[in-house]
Order: sequence, then C-alpha cells, then structure tokens
Amino acid sequence: MNKTKNTLFSGKRVIIDNNSLIMAIESSCDETACAIVKGGREVLSNVVASQIKIHEEYGGVIPEIAAREHLEAVNVVIDEAFKQAGVTGGDISAFAGTVGPGLVGCLLVGLNAAKTLALAFDKPFIGINHLNAHLAANFIDTDLEPPFVALLVSGGHTQIIKVNTYSDMQIIGETIDDAVGEAYDKVARLIGLPYPGGPKLDKLAQEGNPFAFKLPEAKVGEYDFSFSGLKTAALRLVKSFDGKELPLKDICASFQECVSSTLYKKIKHALEETGYKQVVLAGGVAANSEIRKKIFSLSDLGYKVYAPQMKYCTDNASMVASAAYFFENTFDNIDVEVFSRVKA
Ligand code: KG4
Ligand code: ZN
Repeated sequence: MNKTKNTLFSGKRVIIDNNSLIMAIESSCDETACAIVKGGREVLSNVVASQIKIHEEYGGVIPEIAAREHLEAVNVVIDEAFKQAGVTGGDISAFAGTVGPGLVGCLLVGLNAAKTLALAFDKPFIGINHLNAHLAANFIDTDLEPPFVALLVSGGHTQIIKVNTYSDMQIIGETIDDAVGEAYDKVARLIGLPYPGGPKLDKLAQEGNPFAFKLPEAKVGEYDFSFSGLKTAALRLVKSFDGKELPLKDICASFQECVSSTLYKKIKHALEETGYKQVVLAGGVAANSEIRKKIFSLSDLGYKVYAPQMKYCTDNASMVASAAYFFENTFDNIDVEVFSRVKA
C-alpha cells in the first residue's frame, strides 16, 4: 500500500510505503507514549510511560497533573523510541500525533512534540483520531484489511463500527450513557478496588461464579448500549449485603458476565446484518479476559476474529503510527487543533 504526503517546508511529495517508518506520539490521557512502526504493521519500538501510580492516589486522572507529567516524560519516551529502534529523525518518513478525543492539556503536549519533530526534519505531519488508533492496533503483526465490523470498548467510548474501507467507516451503534471501561471503573470503585478498577475487577471475576447474581441487560436500540442501569443494579446488590462481607468474586463475575454477553449478542447481530466475515475488538477493555473469550468464540461460527495483543489494547503510540499509515481520514495539517470530544 502506497500513499503520498506533502512535506512541510519543501513541499516535496513523500511516498509512504511498506518500508516507511512512522514515528507517533500519544498523550491523550494518562500514558505518554512514543513508537516507531514500519509499514504500518511492524513495531520497531514501543515506549510507554504510565502515570497510573500517580493517579491511583486520587482514584482517577487529574487532568492538570497528567498534563505536567506528559511534559516531564515526552522527551524521554521520544529518545528511548529512537534508541530502541536504532534509527534517527532523518530515517522517519512522517510524524504522527493524537489530536483527540482526550484531555486537552494532555493532547497538546504530545501533539506539539510530534509537530515540532515534523517541522525540524521537514517531514509530513499526520494528526490521528484516538479511536481510529485503537482500531489500528489490530493491523500490528497481522494481515487484517477492511471490510470488518469493529467493537470498540474503551474508558471513554463504546461503539460498533462498520469499517468498509480505509477511508469509509460508519458508527452503527454506541452507548447512550456510560462507556464499558467507565462502567468497569465505577463498579470497581463501588466495591473498593483501587483505580483503574477494570483490570482488577476482571481478575477477581475469573475466580467467581458468573451466574451467582442476575444483573439486568438494558433494552436499547439494536446496536446501542446502556450501562448506567447495570451500574445502579450493582450498587443495589452491594447495599443488599448491608455492611456484611461482600462476595466480591461472585459480584465481579456476574457483572462481567452481564457486560460480556451483551457485547457478544450485539456484535454477533451486527455481523449477521452486515454480512461481514471479519470482526475486530479494540480499545482498553479489549484486554478483558471474558470479552476476549466470547468474541474469539465467534470463530466457531466461521468469522475471522482479531483482537490486539495485550500491550496494544490500552493507550500506546504504535497504534497511532499504524492508523497514520492505513487510514485516509487523518488530519494532515500542521495547524490542526486538539479536541476533547468526538467530532461529528
Ligand atoms: O482505551 P483506554 O486506554 O481508554 C480510553 O481511550 O478511553 O482504556 C482504559 C480503560 C479503563 O477504563 C480500564 O479500566 C479498562 O480500559 N480496562 C479494562 C481491562 N483493562 C483495561 N476493563 C476491563 N477489563 C480489563 N482487563
Ligand atoms: Zn485509549
């Protein structure tokens, strides 16, 4: 696959092909990350500086602290990414950075670093939508090509997306309230697990009985989701123990069963309706053991199933570089501004 991009100063056309190296920076939330990816699929370096330890204390991400931490970390992750890949700025064909959605003060740090590198080396700059980047994590080390149906489950979003081509995708369903990751984190907090609760809840769930408690599935549009009722039901369940010791593992397993079976049913329905034969799981919650298991079971029905390797599920810059390589709907403009929410 080839595409051409204009460089910034000389206006020369740069061809981006299988051998091209793209360096990307990601800083939309609480990870400062830099990566160099060859031909969109081969990761030469993937450096992530996580702030989880810092935010744990507050039970969530504090935007001002996060932005300051990004400033501290950004040059370090860039140097490390060059070092691990064994290349220099002159070897890079284009520089990419996350434009949004995310925390504005955080996005600004990574985006300005990526723009500065592009200007310094007179190479194209490619701005990337964070959600497209999560989808692109599935291109790494695979042969995936559109068309496919994607289930994007992250801390901020829950969507079913019909990816027809590299330039044409449609959101066919989404959550009307909480995102899956948000529901995990809120329920985890409710039962006393530290931030970010999602992975910890998942771990406990694996040792519990998924059918111990029946939790409600929301009735919404055919591809849409709602998790706020489930959250309230979990709260009611916790309160019903009236201060007595909670059967934590069973509560976690029952919550996980409810979420994962809802996701499974909706994505299966989307596959049947679209006729697409490939399904892709994406976003931080793609790391969840039961959701992965259920989505992978779709291969028994003849579908080809993709999910990112664990290290590419949560925020990283390799997926940003891969999105810059494959997707056409990018922000190839040095003047592009960051944005906090999904743009229509
Ligand atoms: O994709 P991501 O980095 O966030 C956004 O881009 O919004 O994903 C972070 C989310 C958090 O809500 C975290 O709790 C959740 O992914 N998460 C999990 C697991 N690993 C991460 N949720 C459930 N089970 C997991 N194993
Ligand atoms: Zn993310």
